[in-house]
Amino acid sequence: MARHHDAPTSASPAPLPVDVPAAELLNGFVGTHVLYALTVSGVLDAVVAAGSVSVPTLAEATHSEPTALRALLRAAQRLGLVHGDAGTDTVALTPGGREAYRVRGYFTATVGGFGDVFRHLDTLLAWPEEFGRSVLQNGHYTALGCAQNWDFQRRIFDGATGDLGFGRVADIGCGAAARLIHLVGGRPDVTGVGVDVSGEACQLARQNVKSAGLDDRITIVQADVLGVVGAPEAFTQVTDADLVTSYFILHHFVGERVGGRPFLTALRAAFPRARSFVFADGFRDPRTEPTDDAGPAPLFTLAYQLFHDFTGVGLRTRAEQREMFLDAGYRVERELPFGHPLEWLFVLSPGTDPA
Ligand SMILES: C[S@@+](CC[C@H](N)C(=O)[O-])C[C@H]1O[C@@H](n2cnc3c(N)ncnc32)[C@H](O)[C@@H]1O
Repeated sequence: MARHHDAPTSASPAPLPVDVPAAELLNGFVGTHVLYALTVSGVLDAVVAAGSVSVPTLAEATHSEPTALRALLRAAQRLGLVHGDAGTDTVALTPGGREAYRVRGYFTATVGGFGDVFRHLDTLLAWPEEFGRSVLQNGHYTALGCAQNWDFQRRIFDGATGDLGFGRVADIGCGAAARLIHLVGGRPDVTGVGVDVSGEACQLARQNVKSAGLDDRITIVQADVLGVVGAPEAFTQVTDADLVTSYFILHHFVGERVGGRPFLTALRAAFPRARSFVFADGFRDPRTEPTDDAGPAPLFTLAYQLFHDFTGVGLRTRAEQREMFLDAGYRVERELPFGHPLEWLFVLSPGTDPA
């Protein structure tokens, strides 16, 4: 292979490109994995906590092998995420690194949650049913990534829901339970229940509930939401809630029918005491059709869209989702962006029609 400084001849291949989409693509792939590794190993948390930290201290604090850690930090420096001071052997985040840390949850979910899906797209072209069996998805990292995004969603959430009155909250598809812990933790008279189909997510949720000292007020139930909505009388500890929440999972169900009714109608009926429903989800960009020159996709949107295209889960636009809520008899009280251009928070009330 010709090195960059070799004099080109008519027989030499062209030098490797460094500033074209191919190079950006490959660097982005590597950078995504570097950021993911620095996140899930706790390195970024340690750097953020210290501001600037010596590499040997960082290695010890994160149980990292120092030579490997230095290699990772060198790559991160090349990517503009950290800057290092060779004199003091310290590292700190750059402004770009701080922004990447803020949105690290998208990297955790994309690489750890469904990275194996992307790595096997070639195989899945022939056997897409593998998606249905979920063998390539890791519920722990999907839930963890969503929980990390809570860092920048919490303020928006509190502004939108601070005035809701409730005594018991049920969170559908609770993942790591970060949002449930937040809602219950600050309200001594409130109890909560989280429902998740994934054993990995339930395990993480129970750990987090215990660490928060809330295991006397929050229960985690491993169950399929379709089962709960289909047989609410079998899940009264869930369905007696007066606040129902669900974040970033509804798109899997809104097109389903349960007991002959549309999912959203059946959900409303399954929670007869509910005074409010708080739903967040990610939506399809109404402008992005393959023929459009729409420019780069917002962070995570490309992964989100491709993943759902492959799994056959149709994503709706926000406007389509609002119509579905209205058709199912809910009243839309509030609707606001949730920290990403295509992720929105809805605060609904059950309306007056019987579901
Ligand atoms: C994208 S994560 C969101 C986690 C959490 N709601 C949050 O925002 O942090 C989706 C969660 O829904 C769970 N889930 C998927 N299908 C489900 C089902 N049929 N019933 C209950 N939970 C489900 C997944 O296991 C995962 O934890």
